[in-house]
Amino acid sequence: MADLSTTYMGFKLQNPLIVASCSLTNTVEGVQRCADAGAGAVVLKSMFEEQIEANAHEIQKHVWLSGHTEAYDYVRQVGIKTGEQDYLNLLEGAKKAVAVPVIASLNCVTPDWWTDYARRLESSGADGIELNIAVLVSDPRHTSKEIEDMYYRILESVGKSVSIPVAVKIGPYFTSLANTASGLCARGASALVLFNRFYQLDINIDKLDLVPAYHFSTPEELNFSLRWMSLLAGRVKCDLAATTGVHDAGGFIKQLLVGAAAVQICSTLYKHGIGRIAQILSNVELWMKKHQFESVAQFQGRLSQKASGHPEAYERLQYIKALVGLE
Ligand SMILES: Cc1cc2nc3c(=O)[nH]c(=O)nc-3n(C[C@H](O)[C@H](O)[C@H](O)COP(=O)(O)O)c2cc1C
Repeated sequence: MADLSTTYMGFKLQNPLIVASCSLTNTVEGVQRCADAGAGAVVLKSMFEEQIEANAHEIQKHVWLSGHTEAYDYVRQVGIKTGEQDYLNLLEGAKKAVAVPVIASLNCVTPDWWTDYARRLESSGADGIELNIAVLVSDPRHTSKEIEDMYYRILESVGKSVSIPVAVKIGPYFTSLANTASGLCARGASALVLFNRFYQLDINIDKLDLVPAYHFSTPEELNFSLRWMSLLAGRVKCDLAATTGVHDAGGFIKQLLVGAAAVQICSTLYKHGIGRIAQILSNVELWMKKHQFESVAQFQGRLSQKASGHPEAYERLQYIKALVGLE
């Protein structure tokens, strides 16, 4: 039998398939189904600071508190604790239910909360934490340096507060992505997850209103993270996990070939069901057999830019032949 094991964030995973943070990992039952189907690890749905705040507001609405500042603060705290407790219960339940690593995911807006919540996630048994740092900075006064420093500060403060491994899930929108990625690894990230897929905005032209765009990825979206995986693998000092656009064994194998330590999947599970996990893994095994690979380690990173004899091919941004009229 092929050896699919890999090392990611310091964990020895039985295989590199991780279920990405999404609503499928928002319940203990969901997490268990993913593990039963063969996932090497799971990332829980993100704990969103706003959600916890919203929970606190909801509780406040139902309590008559006019003029009682202390009571108001107390109820707000109770609301925050309840929202947070739901997540911690999910984490504790998931840890009891499965043997594979359970990675908690955190998305905050207030700098102080990152560390507070991270500590509590660690105390509740998280094997690791994925920081889902997703900010859209639209204020033109902020420079790219300030934004990158903010990422570093969040990572460093969380890193100092917990002793479990911390990964950072990022988007691709940095002026120098390679520099930022390397800066995050140098500041203690045990892994980077490339790339988060953000909720897109659309417009309904009949209702003249904003609407959310379709939120699942397509297989065509694979190539963007594939390129960056190939460029960064072996060049930054932490593990890399791929996410976005991996819908089948082919996409999964490609990400491993260019150097992913692990591959996170989500949309394909919504589309085909949790059974897709076993299907992808068994097709990876068939491919390995065909190519006489006994272990993932034998081909992982083989097609990264660093390992390539044609490094220039990875950085071509234009269709050269098309430009000179040959295509
Ligand atoms: C319904 C849904 C919910 C998601 N929720 C989260 C989340 O809470 N935190 C997060 O970091 N990513 C979240 N994601 C993004 C996924 O983790 C993943 O990175 C993204 O969908 C790209 O992978 P895919 O192409 O396999 O879908 C969500 C995606 C979907 C479709």
